[in-house]
Amino acid sequence: MRTYLVTGGAGFIGSNYIHYMFRKYGDDIRIINVDSLTYAGNLENLKEIAGRSNYTFIRADITDKEAIKKIFSENEIDRVVHFAAESHVDRSIKNPEVFVKTNVLGTAVMLNCAREAWELPDGSYKEDKKFLHVSTDEVYGSLADDGSYFYETTPYAPHSPYSASKASSDLLVKAYIDTYHFPANITNCSNNYGPYQFPEKLIPLIINNALLGKKLPVYGDGKNVRDWLYVDDHAKGIDMVQEMGRLGETYNIGGHNEKQNIEIISIILDTLLEMLPEDDARRAHISRDLITYVEDRKGHDRRYAIAPDKIKAEIGWEPETMFKDGIKKTIAWYFEHEDWMKNVTSGDYQNYYEEMYHGK
Ligand code: NAD
Ligand code: TYD
Repeated sequence: MRTYLVTGGAGFIGSNYIHYMFRKYGDDIRIINVDSLTYAGNLENLKEIAGRSNYTFIRADITDKEAIKKIFSENEIDRVVHFAAESHVDRSIKNPEVFVKTNVLGTAVMLNCAREAWELPDGSYKEDKKFLHVSTDEVYGSLADDGSYFYETTPYAPHSPYSASKASSDLLVKAYIDTYHFPANITNCSNNYGPYQFPEKLIPLIINNALLGKKLPVYGDGKNVRDWLYVDDHAKGIDMVQEMGRLGETYNIGGHNEKQNIEIISIILDTLLEMLPEDDARRAHISRDLITYVEDRKGHDRRYAIAPDKIKAEIGWEPETMFKDGIKKTIAWYFEHEDWMKNVTSGDYQNYYEEMYHGK
């Protein structure tokens, strides 16, 4: 039975990936989820699978070399899928150091421990061992509104401390591939949305605020463009790259779904009104009047857009979920999980929100 070591599996994409993998492989795989449970990590995301005999959760920090080494020495790990990271651009602007620590040093520790566990004395590797580093399209910088795309060959030009730290971690993985022939792949994906996303990111923040009748903060002119991908499509792409990709290669994963932030907000408002029952009191306050233009994000990237040509040609992956369907599924999930939202927005989130938006 193949054993996966998933880092950051209690976060948004990691938990969706773990659910996807158990739906796909059932009892044919074992997953060990290593997560330090920062503000973004939530074991509630995994409560349906927590009791599985082929699932183990270990609370550990990926920068803790000894803890990670111990996991590799006590388990025969076949696959590493490395999600754990600090992931929010706004937080990276306020507090960059933890991004360097987790994203760069943490990736170095993961690479080093995997190499130690897998490398043979002649410099080759134990059979069928693979490391997948989950990264972002933000490493490529910002595009103009001119129909151009990010390709795997696009030079790195990160602007935020978040994207700079992810770019650094990607370069470390590339260095391991070139120097040690380390069996790894990198995926650079566009913006994800879906269940379990923490409401500091645009889509869940807008859904939550609209339902509460709170203002909807729009940075700058609201015309920045992101290329949104439903999270299950990303999970599927990661699995396909790991199983079918050429080792050492990078694959871009994207939704072919470019939208301006202001368009996203309009679609969310319309979809909420379409989905809420006629007698739901919240309908009264859901309107475009909630949209509030606020100060722009520092160094705000204008546009991201992925050309997922390579992954389609080599592996056959394509985005499957249309945005209009994905956003309905996402909103339906938030309707059904009001307690989840209440729990994650209590406590520290209130302080974050106050500091970020000054009560707007
Ligand atoms: P997230 O912030 O929701 O989750 C991150 C998880 O990592 C959390 O569970 C957190 O507790 C854990 N973690 C953080 N620091 C850790 C540490 N030092 N040790 C162990 N665990 C730690 O992030 P996400 O949105 O799920 O993103 C996951 C990965 O995907 C990240 O590497 C991110 O760069 C990448 N990515 C995200 C997106 C997106 O749209 N969210 C798009 C492309 C790529
Ligand atoms: P975000 O979800 O933080 O993802 P990223 O910055 O990694 O792309 O933001 C998506 C876009 O939405 C980005 O252009 C910033 C913008 N945004 C707002 O306009 N208002 C908000 O409150 C947030 C959180 C984001």
